[in-house]
Amino acid sequence: MRLAVFLSVLAVLCGGGVATAAAEPRVVGGTRASIAEHPWVVFLAGTTGSQFCGGTLVAPTKVVTAAHCVAGTAPERLVVVAGREDKRTQAGETLRVARIWKHPFYSSAEQGSDVAVLTLARPVANRVLPLASADPAPGTVAKVLGWGRTAEIGAASQVLLGANVPVMSNQDCTADYARFDPAAMVCAGYPRGGIDTCQGDSGGPLVANGALIGVTSWGEGCARPGQPGVYSRITAYRALIDQQLKG
Ligand code: ARG
Repeated sequence: MRLAVFLSVLAVLCGGGVATAAAEPRVVGGTRASIAEHPWVVFLAGTTGSQFCGGTLVAPTKVVTAAHCVAGTAPERLVVVAGREDKRTQAGETLRVARIWKHPFYSSAEQGSDVAVLTLARPVANRVLPLASADPAPGTVAKVLGWGRTAEIGAASQVLLGANVPVMSNQDCTADYARFDPAAMVCAGYPRGGIDTCQGDSGGPLVANGALIGVTSWGEGCARPGQPGVYSRITAYRALIDQQLKG
């Protein structure tokens, strides 16, 4: 019973289930994005090749993703795919994961600490994205990228999609979500909804001013009015992530 409740809550937060929301195109409301322009965006796949989350190369052997993407899994059970815009192709490289670090306080996305660092078995040549050292001002237009669902109730994208979403103030996000924690999270989206990340985009980047400012984490459904996307706040975890980059 408790498990059933937990799973249905997770399904809503991650964009599964729930028979409302109209069909919306791409990320939700995004457009095609090129891997050449965003060579640091990667996806996580099972050993059979099925994509389930996103990630960001921040060093030649280091990928920042969401802890909820890798919780309860082992390095040998996933791969990182770099340089592949279209899932149906064999472009780019498939990398084994040598080590998974997840935030020691992580328990669920909504409770924060939803960040993890994967160490790849070998370095990639792709350009990497720097971690932000300061938070963007509210209203800054940030970019999200991913291969996740193009509608709250819909299939994942076969190709990389991207969308621009404004960073929200903590005050506005607190008004939308009682469980928003400004010390751990940052929200992005439009009050009217329509453009958002969705299930399968988790772990992927929220980018502003050429740096990683957030990791796709959760939201109530996808692209709903007054229910923005919630991202793990990189500046909150910068010191811990930097430690992982040295290791
Ligand atoms: N938890 C979802 C995942 O694992 C990401 C949800 C993002 N939701 C949103 N409305 N922005 O893919």
